[in-house]
Amino acid sequence: MNRVFKLVVAGAVMAGVALSFSPIGATPSEAPAPILEDPPADAPAVTPEPFDAKARFNKTCGKCHGKDGKADTKYANKLKEKGATIPDLTSSTTSADKVLEIITDGVKGTKMKSYKKRFSAEELKALSDYTMKFRS
Ligand code: HEC
Repeated sequence: MNRVFKLVVAGAVMAGVALSFSPIGATPSEAPAPILEDPPADAPAVTPEPFDAKARFNKTCGKCHGKDGKADTKYANKLKEKGATIPDLTSSTTSADKVLEIITDGVKGTKMKSYKKRFSAEELKALSDYTMKFRS
């Protein structure tokens, strides 16, 4: 039973109680049965939250790539001092397919790890599309 359905039931029950105690209301036996529709069998238990690529990028990738994609963060600069190359996503020329592949599988031997266990295929695509938007 989902939350909306529960609220509808709760509302209907309260309305029924109010009616039965009201002197001008119909007696409970005559009260019309509340029209309740069963939720569809395939209704999700909870409404799924839409995937927010920007928020997830900032949280998961921002430490290295920066919220602006320029890899100019404290952490990124520390890695760079140690010899790492973190590409500036705003000036990248890597193809969209390759970008998705990199986010999915990572780049062996670098700090860019695989995210395929962390995100679904749709989420990886959304993150990939989001990183492509840094290019102007
Ligand atoms: C710990 C640091 C770190 C984190 C966290 C990280 N990356 Fe990376 N990323 C890198 C490094 C380093 C490279 C360069 C790999 C190489 O040398 O080819 C890279 C490369 C990339 C590239 C390729 C860019 C290009 O144009 O070639 C993309 C796209 C990318 N990362 C997206 C992401 C996304 C999306 C996330 C989060 C889900 C993420 N990264 C998290 C360090 C990181």
